[in-house]
Amino acid sequence: MISLSMENTPVLLLSLLILTFSVSASATTVQAIFTFGDSIFDAGNNHFNKNCSAQADFPPYGSSFFHRSTGRFTNGRTVVDFISQFAGIELQKPYLQAQIEVANGSTKDYPSNGINFASAGSGVLHDTNEDLVVTPLQVQLQQFQTLIGQNQIDKQLLQNSLFFFESGSNDIFNYFLPLEPPALNPDAYVEAMLTQVGQFMDQIYNLGARRIAVFSLGPVGCVPARALLPGAPVDRCFGKMDQMVKNYNQGLETVVKSIPSKYPGAVGVYGAVYEIVQLFRAIPKRYGFVNVSSACCGDGTLGGLVQCGKEGYAVCPNPDQFLFWDYFHPSEHTYHLISKILWSGSQSRIRPLNLKALANLTAV
Ligand SMILES: *[C@@H]1O[C@H](CO)[C@@H](O)[C@H](O)[C@H]1NC(C)=O
Ligand SMILES: *[C@@H]1O[C@H](CO)[C@@H](O)[C@H](O)[C@H]1NC(C)=O
Ligand SMILES: *[C@@H]1O[C@H](CO)[C@@H](O)[C@H](O)[C@H]1NC(C)=O
Ligand SMILES: *[C@@H]1O[C@H](CO)[C@@H](O)[C@H](O)[C@H]1NC(C)=O
Repeated sequence: MISLSMENTPVLLLSLLILTFSVSASATTVQAIFTFGDSIFDAGNNHFNKNCSAQADFPPYGSSFFHRSTGRFTNGRTVVDFISQFAGIELQKPYLQAQIEVANGSTKDYPSNGINFASAGSGVLHDTNEDLVVTPLQVQLQQFQTLIGQNQIDKQLLQNSLFFFESGSNDIFNYFLPLEPPALNPDAYVEAMLTQVGQFMDQIYNLGARRIAVFSLGPVGCVPARALLPGAPVDRCFGKMDQMVKNYNQGLETVVKSIPSKYPGAVGVYGAVYEIVQLFRAIPKRYGFVNVSSACCGDGTLGGLVQCGKEGYAVCPNPDQFLFWDYFHPSEHTYHLISKILWSGSQSRIRPLNLKALANLTAV
């Protein structure tokens, strides 16, 4: 059998994929991106959900690129924005914005360049941050399903679309909140998360997804917001949390590896974001970072005690020098670096194909 984990196997790999896809001779074929997940991807869904209290729709969010807040939880573009630009696709609207515009008649149809369903604060577990009225992954999927049921999304378009999935950080972070002791031990909790990921894959495939990019969690135990947790160290990452993240990521990669056999005609890729971020932390200077531990924008220990933009916050003069923009989220510079690596990086970073190659496959 062919081992897909080896470097330099693209020819063999592509011969497998050619059964359902061929490699485009011309430009990138992908026309649309559909995105599911949490604040890493949210482009403003929470902003359009007035009941939701997980928000980044105030200054200085967005200040480095959009020059206004858009609801994105960073100072500029996210990974899905950069990948859209690399693929030559317009940035996707948040689902709730598109829904309002279709309902009020300001646009006739849902966008043809894809839709972003991600909701900050959500997890793969349905109840994660329920009190903040976030949109759970399962509901994001229902929103997508409803559009398909109403023939609002062209079936052919789905074949030529990329599907992005990243979620799980909030489930794991919340496991360490002191409020109520978790009912499950760490391994069982991660198993419960992966069960939800498996169900997500089943459903997204049944709804027509064929090119699915799954991104691992970064080292969540290193976010400045760990300073909010009793018992978490501030001079180094929170090891117990990062261990859970690693276990989850490992299970996630197993799910991705099973995609070709479990879902005929589908291709899955796994982006090793954890390892990419650890590289930035290990050799910050090479990537232009001066500070990989504190938030550029926030207040208190590590800048992790106060959300950027909230009372008492301060913002650093050059966000590009910081790995973290706010207490939980990377800066646009970090997202840009991650995006470049996911787009055209080697199999040690994204496998078995990078996003550029995934985007160049043509459904036949
Ligand atoms: C994808 O298509 C573009 C445009 O023709 C081409 O330049 C690029 O080499 C292709 N990439 C891959 C990985 O095949
Ligand atoms: C917000 O809550 C109200 C009242 O419960 C509800 O009618 C409305 O649909 C909710 N809005 C969203 C976007 O969920
Ligand atoms: C429709 O919704 C969009 C997005 O919120 C808004 O910009 C626009 O003003 C609305 N149009 C009307 C006619 O209400
Ligand atoms: C990172 O930035 C924070 C906030 O400005 C500062 O307190 C801290 O000393 C910096 N750390 C390093 C290693 O430069």
